[in-house]
Amino acid sequence: MNPLKHVAIIMDGNGRWGLKYKKSRNAGHRAGLNTVEKIIKETINQKIKYLTLYAFSTENWKRPRKEIKYLFSLLEDFLITKIDELNNQNIKLKVIGIKNFSTKLNKLLNLAEKKTFKNTKLQINLALNYGSKSEIIIALKKLKKNNQIINEQNLTKYLQTKDIPDPEILIRTGNTQRLSNFLLWQAAYSEIFFEKKLWPSFERSDFKKIIKKYKTIKRNFGSI
Ligand code: IPE
Ligand code: IPE
Ligand code: MG
Repeated sequence: MNPLKHVAIIMDGNGRWGLKYKKSRNAGHRAGLNTVEKIIKETINQKIKYLTLYAFSTENWKRPRKEIKYLFSLLEDFLITKIDELNNQNIKLKVIGIKNFSTKLNKLLNLAEKKTFKNTKLQINLALNYGSKSEIIIALKKLKKNNQIINEQNLTKYLQTKDIPDPEILIRTGNTQRLSNFLLWQAAYSEIFFEKKLWPSFERSDFKKIIKKYKTIKRNFGSI
């Protein structure tokens, strides 16, 4: 059976779900948060150590201001109401991406990271204002600045996912088959699951099915 330490998820389909069931994209974003909580529970249940959640891409700034504002207000509420619960569950929260939000949100994110820094049960990487291309460019610039040889090992040291294993599983919900600038380097050998369901409809049982399937896959890594 394949080992499993890290699952990464592109949580796509909130807007379509919201429009379909509640006539508002924002309602879909709100509903998507419930799925986040369910998936965190199942991740712990499965004893998976790392969960990376794509919540806002560097390209998502192209969305209407009102939607962006709503997304960040949801995130603020989530941090305010849930961080102690996460902390009590021994969960560590880490942001990957560039934290250039409002002073309030930046502060909440920093506080959440600080509070949970020592936790060991599960590390949640929240990909926020994250773009894989920009992450790689920043890493290359650091390599150059420090006069280091460009090789895989050195580059990996400067990625925001340093110290953690590459995701064995990458899931994208929402019936769309693309990576949208997510973990391009780290997903070089990930098993990719494109899921038809929209994120708010994605259930623990769907997640469990994917994990079960993953465990039986023959992973070659170029060998036979
Ligand atoms: C993903 O859902 C969440 C974010 C990008 C914040 P979308 O908002 O992209 O939902 P669809 O794809 O429009 O349905
Ligand atoms: C990817 O979803 C980003 C997140 C889930 C946060 P998008 O809905 O933004 O992706 P595209 O634009 O359709 O590729
Ligand atoms: Mg989308």
